[in-house]
Amino acid sequence: MALQLDIKRIKGLQTPLYYYDLGVLHQTLTDLQKNAEPHGYHVHYALKANSNPEILHMVRQFGLGADCVSGNEVKRALECGFAPESIVFAGVGKSDEEIILALDADIFCFNCESRQEIRVIDELAAQRGKQARIALRINPNVNANTHKYITTGLEENKFGINVWELDKTLETLKKSSNIQLVGLHFHIGSQILDLEAFKGLCTRVNEIQQWFYGHHIIVDHINLGGGLGVDYHHPDEHAIPDFKAYFDIFQKFLEPRPKQKIHFELGRAIVAQCGSLISKVLYVKKGVKTNFAILDAGMTELIRPALYQSYHKIESLTPRKGEGEEKYDVVGPICESSDCFGKAVELPVVKRGDLIAIRTTGAYSEVMASFYNLRTKAPAVYAEVSVIS
Ligand code: LLP
Repeated sequence: MALQLDIKRIKGLQTPLYYYDLGVLHQTLTDLQKNAEPHGYHVHYALKANSNPEILHMVRQFGLGADCVSGNEVKRALECGFAPESIVFAGVGKSDEEIILALDADIFCFNCESRQEIRVIDELAAQRGKQARIALRINPNVNANTHKYITTGLEENKFGINVWELDKTLETLKKSSNIQLVGLHFHIGSQILDLEAFKGLCTRVNEIQQWFYGHHIIVDHINLGGGLGVDYHHPDEHAIPDFKAYFDIFQKFLEPRPKQKIHFELGRAIVAQCGSLISKVLYVKKGVKTNFAILDAGMTELIRPALYQSYHKIESLTPRKGEGEEKYDVVGPICESSDCFGKAVELPVVKRGDLIAIRTTGAYSEVMASFYNLRTKAPAVYAEVSVIS
């Protein structure tokens, strides 16, 4: 599936801009649903990946729930029509105000990350005469084999409750009369391409479930988090992640208790490939060893290469026939040397004014934009499903 860029439409617009192909999103969601439904799996979309209302409306239409990590994300999910009972609220540092907002909205569940947080939620729920449903986020100590900044399931990471704290956590729960334990939650990291890591997660979850069973506890649901990676190198050939292979791993290796529901929280796999950052070449400059293509988009619009050394495919949307190719360091205008989207990128000769697409920016791009250098927020432009299908 090639990117369907409505170039004519883009040409007249101010750049940089985030371009979202809702047709790709629609196909991704269709495929996700096709593969999750037969197993009865329930997917919450992780708003942190992209919280644009247009994206959220489509995600909701497919019946997904919402996974939020801030009070504002909970508000956004509600505004975009997600039912409160489909919203989970995670995060290591929920403020009192955020907890109150979620309690008042009667969300499905808090994913709790520490004993102290359980006590705070209990207290705030008691003040409101409510019962708060929670899942314990347990740190499974499973290596996700991904970038160290997006690994979350190791004991050294700040996330979740460590297994050696579970005894004490049960004591805390016994004393918390306004808390109802309904689930166990796990998340080992993001951009995971080695599916073996999820097999490791299943094995660990089975052991942890056994421990709870030994303490006469069977929770209603197990939430296995997100993390399925996408192909940043081949966005057209692999526009849709292999949801089948992903869910099959859990089907094969996870041992749920009878009637236990299985939840996921996918972000990147759903939205990454539907987005491209569109930018214009401002200047082409000869360096000592290389040419620089200086764009009007920078790390303020897409921080992933600077932060995680991540690869994004870069394409010229203004290819010139017969002028050959050159290698460019594709950089932005921001006053930082790390403001670089790719080194020695082979592109058809580029000139001032050419349009460039940086692919696979539907996830963790616009949401991570910053105002550094007093930059203006880049707008989002959407290709509707009908335009492209
Ligand atoms: N659930 C929890 C508890 C999470 O922490 C995350 C992501 C997700 C679900 C969704 O994970 P996904 O399916 O999108 O991998 N900014 C980084 C990614 C940070 C991911 C944070 N947590 C990046 O640009 O690669």
